[in-house]
Amino acid sequence: MILYLLLGAFYRTDPNGPMYYKGVYHLFYQYNPYGAIFNTTIVWGHSVSHDLVNWIHLKNAIVPTKSFDINSCWSGSTTILPGNKPVVLYTGVNTKNQQVQNLAMPKNLSDPFLKEWKKYSGNPIMTPPDGVKPDNFRDPSTAWKGKDGIWRVVVGGLRSNLGVAILYKSKDFVHWSLHDEPLYFGKNTDIWECPDFYPVSVKSRDGVDNSVIRINLKYVLKASFKSKSHDYYTIGSYDAENEKFLPDSKGLTGSSLDLRYDYGKFYASKTFFDSVKNRRILWGWINESDSSADDIKKEWAGIQSIPRQVYLDSTQTQLVQWPVKETEKLHDKHVTYSGKKLRRESLFEVSGITASQVDIEVSFMLPKLEEVEVLDPKWSDPQLLCSTKTPRDSGRAGPFGLLLMASQDLKEQTAVFFRIFKDNHQFVVLMCSDQSRSSLREGIDKTTYGAFIYINRKDEMISLRSLVDNSVIESFGAEGRACITARVYPKFSVHTEAHVYAFNNGSLDVVIPRLDAWSMKTAKGN
Ligand code: FRU
Repeated sequence: MILYLLLGAFYRTDPNGPMYYKGVYHLFYQYNPYGAIFNTTIVWGHSVSHDLVNWIHLKNAIVPTKSFDINSCWSGSTTILPGNKPVVLYTGVNTKNQQVQNLAMPKNLSDPFLKEWKKYSGNPIMTPPDGVKPDNFRDPSTAWKGKDGIWRVVVGGLRSNLGVAILYKSKDFVHWSLHDEPLYFGKNTDIWECPDFYPVSVKSRDGVDNSVIRINLKYVLKASFKSKSHDYYTIGSYDAENEKFLPDSKGLTGSSLDLRYDYGKFYASKTFFDSVKNRRILWGWINESDSSADDIKKEWAGIQSIPRQVYLDSTQTQLVQWPVKETEKLHDKHVTYSGKKLRRESLFEVSGITASQVDIEVSFMLPKLEEVEVLDPKWSDPQLLCSTKTPRDSGRAGPFGLLLMASQDLKEQTAVFFRIFKDNHQFVVLMCSDQSRSSLREGIDKTTYGAFIYINRKDEMISLRSLVDNSVIESFGAEGRACITARVYPKFSVHTEAHVYAFNNGSLDVVIPRLDAWSMKTAKGN
């Protein structure tokens, strides 16, 4: 594992409380220091970085010690209070196994690494409200301040079988009162974990601090749906007077029609506003695809995604995500191809780079859109469609894309590819990440993932970027309008025997105006 934040041995899951403080990026995370499995000793692990690429691992920041968190310190967020004072809100599992919300703050604000944390003596500061079971109340968000100077925060939960973002308000960040209505709730959904609520600019890619109030903003509400293991989000507006989030479309339903940050493995994610580079950054937990027995044997499980800059798409109907620019610091040997034609049923090897650790970006000229196949209205679930239309099934425009982590005989390969359809009066690209042949090993989750990307009749090209690091493949379609993350465990020796190919199995020829690939260097601390 080269680029990824492995964060010490053992079990790590949700990113917690990311922030920028005095020249340093902080990432906390759910961590079991005693084994590669989930148990009742979860702590807040802590790592810091100056560049989001190279990391220093510090001692655990918040660990179970008190009656209000003795059975684990679960997920939460940081908020930077006026005067540049970070504080943490986190969920404690108390002596009765109830979930309560606690406050913690750094012991020494002059230490940019914020190594030592103390817990507020009056914890817990929030206990499960009426109608919310004590095991369904967790994961406080970053707080935001209203025009009235009062802080607001949402906590995830389940109330009357509805996933809910429970709203609390406070004047001093210590005494919190429950608002009678939630900020928003879902329909027929399971518990919402790790809610995130933040403004996005409609004018630029710049990030916006959670407490900024101005026109020209839209709002994102994200919830992690436990029953689906996916992070869903919706875009809308914030009616501050009535304390309500108003989605522009159907809101959060947990169906295949909802928007997701990532259509593969990516859960319990969290964003933060990076005040030094004026951007919003997203991190997610990527879990394993092998078994817990494998995890125990290899003595670790779970990684954090490469941090992604996140902003509103120009259509204002979805978000765009892109690996932070700093990732390019790891670029090493570079190969480039231009004007390459991929005839039907052909492939070519991208050679000269380390295929097991590569950042590869390719653009494909779109064929004449009149010639593409028609999308059957029954095909509304892209993931299902990707498992039916494999990379080997020839279509008209596509499948074309990349074969990653491939063995030379192609018996093991992960195909990340596009296929283009006409859907009524618009055109849609099906983006798939097919893990079904990723490994000859048995007992691995090889689910195929898929997403739809709507394109314009005027669009001439579609791009695909994949960041590959041994068992991790994070793919960004159409410049980050759809993302799919996969874990793959080929049998071949990944360091020396991995190959990467571009392929076209459609009946229409495809032109690659440009392909760039870089071997990736090893980041420090990983
Ligand atoms: C999400 C989650 C959170 C909880 C934490 C426990 O993965 O279940 O709801 O706080 O993990 O580790």
